[in-house]
Amino acid sequence: MCLFLVALTGYGQSPHGDDFVMDCAKCHTSDDWSFNAEMSSFRHDSTNFALRGRHEQLDCRSCHQSLEFKKAESTCISCHGDLHQQTVGFDCARCHNTLTWVVENITQMHEQVSFPLLGAHLSVDCYECHKSETNLRFDPISPECISCHKNDYEGAKIPDHVAQGFPVDCSLCHSQTQTGWSGETILHSFFPLVGGHQISDCSICHTTSVYADISPDCIICHIDDYNNAKNPDHTLFPKQCNLCHGLNPGWMPASYSDHDSSFPIYSGNHKGEWNNCTDCHTISGDFTSFSCIDCHEHNNPGSLAKEHDEVGGYQYVSTACLGCHPKGD
Ligand code: HEC
Ligand code: HEC
Ligand code: HEC
Ligand code: HEC
Ligand code: HEC
Ligand code: HEC
Ligand code: HEC
Ligand code: HEC
Ligand code: HEC
Ligand code: HEC
Ligand code: HEC
Ligand code: HEC
Ligand code: HEC
Repeated sequence: MCLFLVALTGYGQSPHGDDFVMDCAKCHTSDDWSFNAEMSSFRHDSTNFALRGRHEQLDCRSCHQSLEFKKAESTCISCHGDLHQQTVGFDCARCHNTLTWVVENITQMHEQVSFPLLGAHLSVDCYECHKSETNLRFDPISPECISCHKNDYEGAKIPDHVAQGFPVDCSLCHSQTQTGWSGETILHSFFPLVGGHQISDCSICHTTSVYADISPDCIICHIDDYNNAKNPDHTLFPKQCNLCHGLNPGWMPASYSDHDSSFPIYSGNHKGEWNNCTDCHTISGDFTSFSCIDCHEHNNPGSLAKEHDEVGGYQYVSTACLGCHPKGD
């Protein structure tokens, strides 16, 4: 104890800076000024920088050369050189931790930049895509397919992509989960080839040699189906089949969801209360006419007559019903 005091006064000054207020005995014994981790009651977790991973095993001086502890900065880049030469930003902890520099979240990293490594790309070497002066530079590269696959596009002959003017966004037709360019599902995502359109022979729809020369309007290809539809008769239906139809084979089921913007039948009081269009449109094929009174009877108990006792202008006529109850409520 005595020795300790002597030493302290003898040295005169602490190397830890004038404003360092921590009790010397927390880290030093009376023997000498060395630091002994086992003897010390100091815990680095009490600072703003917890020591984890490799940092736990380091000598204090490897981070605190000056021994003025508070001068150490806590951002990774203040101690570790940026080997990436500013190609990935300064937030090293986005990809690294203090255990090792090996990066484990490469999959996630590519998802975050909207370029997930799928299909064929899973087995491609990093540096076939990241071509920089050093393997640690990750200079911006375009994620557009064409920027790396221009030669494939120009070389594609069956079908001839250049001559046909195929879009250069390959992913419209070639799925990223595929491992090659041929022999797998063609997406055609601008007009999905699903349901009744799952047709592998392109020429069934593309009847001319110019692929782009085609309209997506249903009626252009399905005019005969429309004219021949008898149950129900379609003559008065809008010609946008997709108002009521999906792409299911056989055109079933159909539902006219747009109907609700005039008279709600898939929502409101009439939802689930009818089975066929003809419950209201009682004259077959005529959708301009409708009946309310086939269901809403006049004289049964709780009758309409009673409901309308006090309603001036009440008439037992369907068009009048709609006039006063335009949404069926
Ligand atoms: C949080 C722990 C801690 C506290 C508290 C602490 N020191 Fe130190 N001190 C160290 C470490 C670590 C070293 C470097 C020892 C080594 O390299 O072996 C050191 C070294 C020293 C040295 C030797 C310097 C040299 O150049 O070798 C002196 C003198 C010293 N401390 C004085 C003090 C005094 C005086 C106090 C109280 C005001 C104090 N220390 C408080 C951790 C501490
Ligand atoms: C991997 C680097 C690293 C190592 C190893 C390390 N430190 Fe630190 N230490 C830091 C950083 C960074 C800070 C600054 C935190 C902050 O921003 O306040 C710090 C802060 C401190 C502080 C608080 C300073 C203050 O006044 O706020 C003390 C005391 C300290 N360290 C002591 C030690 C001692 C003793 C050891 C050895 C057992 C040690 N450190 C090992 C990086 C390290
Ligand atoms: C105050 C300085 C300091 C700070 C801040 C710091 N480190 Fe360190 N770190 C070191 C020192 C010194 C070493 C040991 C020498 C070396 O390997 O470079 C080290 C070692 C490492 C190692 C082990 C390297 C190996 O080859 O074993 C990793 C990984 C690491 N640090 C990651 C980080 C990360 C990530 C951050 C930010 C969250 C960070 N460090 C912040 C000083 C620091
Ligand atoms: C976007 C992710 C990302 C960021 C941010 C990032 N790195 Fe890296 N870093 C990598 C990848 C990927 C590697 C290659 C490691 C591998 O193949 O596992 C690497 C490797 C390293 C290595 C090891 C080099 C070697 O020779 O093995 C060090 C050191 C390193 N990075 C330091 C840093 C520092 C310092 C920062 C902050 C300035 C940083 N990194 C930021 C992704 C990143
Ligand atoms: C098929 C091509 C391809 C392969 C293979 C590939 N990458 Fe990438 N990588 C990209 C693209 C594209 C980006 C997005 C670049 C951009 O936005 O500038 C990217 C981004 C990155 C970034 C930056 C991420 C960020 O957040 O800034 C790093 C680091 C990276 N890749 C490392 C790797 C490593 C390591 C491997 C091998 C394990 C790898 N990449 C394999 C294409 C690839
Ligand atoms: C940053 C460069 C890069 C980008 C961007 C890129 N690729 Fe690749 N891709 C490669 C490399 C490198 C290979 C492996 C070498 C090769 O086969 O061309 C590859 C391979 C492929 C293969 C396998 C080819 C084969 O012959 O087996 C397909 C399919 C593929 N990529 C599709 C795509 C699609 C679709 C996109 C756009 C969503 C895309 N790629 C974007 C670099 C890229
Ligand atoms: C409009 C749809 C469409 C687009 C867009 C498209 N492709 Fe294709 N591609 C096809 C079809 C269909 C095939 C024939 C598939 C088969 O044979 O199984 C094909 C086949 C290929 C082939 C093999 C051709 C051969 O001669 O063997 C390559 C290579 C190819 N595409 C590359 C590309 C690249 C690169 C892009 C983007 C720059 C692209 N494709 C965009 C539809 C498309
Ligand atoms: C069920 C009918 C149908 C089939 C089968 C079909 N397509 Fe198409 N395709 C269309 C329609 C409709 C469009 C127009 C889409 C639009 O303009 O929104 C179109 C457009 C295209 C375009 C022009 C895209 C553009 O943006 O310039 C290409 C190229 C094309 N199809 C290629 C193919 C290839 C290759 C196949 C065979 C794998 C195929 N299509 C099979 C109906 C079909
Ligand atoms: C206003 C809604 C609506 C529109 C628009 C519509 N349909 Fe229909 N379609 C139906 C209903 C309802 C059915 C009967 C479905 C059921 O019984 O489940 C049907 C049935 C059919 C049937 C089978 C009829 C039968 O007689 O077997 C064909 C074919 C058909 N639609 C073709 C078309 C075509 C082609 C178009 C566009 C040009 C079209 N539809 C537009 C509502 C519509
Ligand atoms: C470029 C021509 C083309 C266009 C545009 C087109 N189709 Fe088709 N569609 C076909 C061909 C070809 C078939 C398969 C032969 C057939 O059943 O008529 C088919 C089949 C269908 C089938 C299955 C019919 C069955 O009998 O099983 C439905 C449902 C269908 N299409 C709905 C639509 C709808 C809805 C639209 C508008 C969004 C549309 N189609 C636009 C060409 C086209
Ligand atoms: C609960 C009664 C009810 C049912 C069920 C019903 N509708 Fe209607 N529908 C009406 C009423 C009321 C109108 C008139 C709306 C208006 O003019 O505001 C109407 C209007 C229409 C029109 C517009 C006619 C015009 O003026 O051009 C079409 C088309 C139509 N419905 C088709 C259908 C189809 C298809 C079904 C079966 C899927 C169906 N409706 C089922 C009550 C019904
Ligand atoms: C298929 C039979 C049927 C047809 C046709 C029908 N309705 Fe209804 N309606 C019902 C049923 C069932 C209810 C719900 C039962 C109830 O709550 O009283 C209902 C509820 C109503 C209500 C609300 C009653 C309440 O309690 O709030 C009104 C208003 C109404 N319908 C008006 C009409 C009008 C206007 C028409 C003609 C355009 C019509 N309905 C055609 C069966 C029908
Ligand atoms: C001149 C306007 C008018 C006409 C025409 C009319 N209603 Fe009404 N209806 C009303 C009023 C107002 C009420 C009372 C509303 C209330 O109590 O919220 C009512 C109440 C009802 C109710 C009971 C609603 C409830 O909340 O219990 C039904 C069902 C109904 N009407 C159906 C019909 C039918 C079916 C027709 C055609 C035969 C019709 N209405 C004709 C104005 C009219």
